[in-house]
Amino acid sequence: MSDHVRKTVEGGVMTLTLSRPEKKNALTDAMYGALADAMIQAETDDAVRVILFAADGDAFTAGNDINDFMQIATSPTPVTDRNVFRFLHALAAADKPLVAAVTGLAVGVGLTMLLHCDLVYVAEDAKLSAPFVNLGLSPEAASSLLLPQIIGHRRAFAMFALGEPVTGTQAAALGIANAALPKDEVLAKAQAAAALLASRAPGSLKVTKRLMRNAETLSAQIVTEGAVFADRLNSAEAKEAFSAFLERRPAVF
Ligand code: COA
Repeated sequence: MSDHVRKTVEGGVMTLTLSRPEKKNALTDAMYGALADAMIQAETDDAVRVILFAADGDAFTAGNDINDFMQIATSPTPVTDRNVFRFLHALAAADKPLVAAVTGLAVGVGLTMLLHCDLVYVAEDAKLSAPFVNLGLSPEAASSLLLPQIIGHRRAFAMFALGEPVTGTQAAALGIANAALPKDEVLAKAQAAAALLASRAPGSLKVTKRLMRNAETLSAQIVTEGAVFADRLNSAEAKEAFSAFLERRPAVF
């Protein structure tokens, strides 16, 4: 386990809590590795019936760590061999139900991972965004397929291309989340839903989830997106966007 991901298992629910609040829970390679390991192990562990994602601090996650993006861009190890892709494929392949409790910001993968979750509870004032084009990047986690499916092409395009955020209340109305709640009620609501799922017939839950989504199609989309994303990471546009973030100035393309 990474120091920045906490894992607990209780009453059939594995809770994975992002815990790097001083960096808005921005996700590093080690954090993706811890998440992927826990999810893969959970699939064959009868003590785990449901996985719940939660976060410490005032943000769910500010998405991929931008310093990591810069490091990956100059590393000989391709992004598709990194822990982030193990995590994305674990999301796509998950047979056990995934539940999320989201307060504050959910940026990039913080939003796109929710598209793989089966129940999502958000704070009314949460802010969800997928500003891949702002960063000179492209959509990942099969979001180029899932987000337009859920909210329609034009809304999805505005989120990807203009970086338009949605509030938690809007996310619930659009079908990205099951419900938007006052922020101090979100975790308890998600925990109650996870506990209820953990009491349900696991075999029935598994086939129900399998019938509702095509894991192979999602994994194939993640691979297709990964090749594009790897190119984008090495682009001059992305380099400018990352430098601009670190220098706290607007990017100029
Ligand atoms: N990668 C690395 N560090 C990040 C980060 C990220 N994705 N998001 C936030 N941080 C760090 C900041 O650099 C800052 O570190 P510092 O205190 O050492 O300077 C700290 O987390 C707090 O962030 P800050 O920007 O000061 O908070 P804020 O409330 O003003 O803004 C955000 C929060 C999330 C809006 C802003 O940090 C941001 O835009 N982050 C980038 C989001 C993003 O583009 N993610 C990638 C999506 S693909």
